[in-house]
Amino acid sequence: MADSSTSKTATLSIDGQSYDLPMYTPTAGPEVVDIRKLYAQAGVFTYDPGYTSTASCDSTITFIDGDKGELLHRGYPIDQLAGNSHYLEVCYLLLYGELPTTKQLENFENTITRHTMIHEQMHNFFRGFRRDAHPMATMVGVVGAMSAFYHDSTNIHDAREREIASHRLIAKMPTIAAMAYKYSVGQPFVYPRNDLDYAANFLHMCFAVPAEEYVVDPILSRAMDRIFTLHADHEQNASTSTVRLASSSGANPFACIAAGIACLWGPAHGGANQACLQMLQEIGTPDRIPEFLARAKDKDDPFRLMGFGHRVYKNFDPRAKVMKQSADEVLDLLGIEDNPTLQVAKELEKQALDDDYFVDRKLFPNVDFYSGIILEAMQFPMSMFTPIFAVGRTVGWISQWKEMLGDPQNKIGRPRQLYLGSTKRDYVDIENR
Ligand code: SDX
Repeated sequence: MADSSTSKTATLSIDGQSYDLPMYTPTAGPEVVDIRKLYAQAGVFTYDPGYTSTASCDSTITFIDGDKGELLHRGYPIDQLAGNSHYLEVCYLLLYGELPTTKQLENFENTITRHTMIHEQMHNFFRGFRRDAHPMATMVGVVGAMSAFYHDSTNIHDAREREIASHRLIAKMPTIAAMAYKYSVGQPFVYPRNDLDYAANFLHMCFAVPAEEYVVDPILSRAMDRIFTLHADHEQNASTSTVRLASSSGANPFACIAAGIACLWGPAHGGANQACLQMLQEIGTPDRIPEFLARAKDKDDPFRLMGFGHRVYKNFDPRAKVMKQSADEVLDLLGIEDNPTLQVAKELEKQALDDDYFVDRKLFPNVDFYSGIILEAMQFPMSMFTPIFAVGRTVGWISQWKEMLGDPQNKIGRPRQLYLGSTKRDYVDIENR
């Protein structure tokens, strides 16, 4: 358990009976009330369906201050990491807790580089899917199947096997995502190259063809690296919580990460970048923005502004600010700074931020708002946006998975419920119903 001290006690009174609950002081963020003994003491559960007021664990990896719009990885602000670091260095930081020395980084990068190929027989998995299968479906299947090939890194009780599984997942996720893309467009798979860095290698595996050489533009690979960095980890979001819950049963790392990929796919979570671009393209031109803003406010209309709002950020998502800079750089490089989708995005952001409905509800652009524009400009199909999010987030899932397995208090996650169903009743034969 992280070094959290008991600062004071909360007293809960139920039917005239008082119950003292210990409170812990964090290094940052809200204090917590420890309710682990509440049911045993008071015979009641707490009720928090969306976990809006519930800390599911303690962690030392990432901290978000939603009011300030601040995101820290092991204490380092995301804007400093995005501006001065690169994805594999951030991976090292998330995995091991400190920025690496030159030697440590060199060894780590060499290890990851030399684990990027997947078992040749795994290529057959892709051919079992329809060509038009969503790449997220392919990734869930292939990543889950890794446990059928890498038996020497599935023992979660062995620290070395945990580390090998971590390196394999970080290294192979771009290869699997690129292969899912190549399969979907009917092009041959492109093997990873050890002379390219992580982001450049991914772009090369996606866009190289046997017919001609593909040279990765350094501005595009820098933007790709930044996208991976900005998606690396984000506290106990839905997919990370899924990985932790799956891991609490003792499932192997590949099964746990496949569960995280499946959860990330949802449009309220990692699928929002694809949904956001679809929305921007549906809006089409800036003059139609008021119509969509009205729909977003209409309680009878399920439409929401994709790429806006966040459960934790009640200020600007700091990742969106950095992403916006990258969007401008990429579109400027590609000579499409007047990209109609970007024009709609910028005008939508302006109008939403001028609208009390969104400002009062702290609905600001999140990480997904600009990432889709960059990826579209790079010629990725929308179906590849969430797989790219999954590539970046793998290190976060793995770091949280490792932290959980290293916690001596770790036990299987098993929430209870507020039961509102039928009380006990006897079976009725069909002739009497
Ligand atoms: C990610 O958790 C993470 O950290 C996730 C993530 C990560 O890195 O892992 O940051 C990645 O998932 C970013 C979020 C991507 N999702 C989207 O962009 C989808 C659109 N956003 C919404 O679905 C929504 O904002 C959520 C799901 C992100 C957050 O929803 P909450 O916190 O549960 O908010 P809520 O549903 O309680 O809404 C509060 C109010 C409601 O209005 P009232 O009932 O108060 O009148 O805000 C409204 C909602 O109707 N609202 C929106 C809105 N989001 C919330 N109205 C219009 N458009 C929206 N996008």
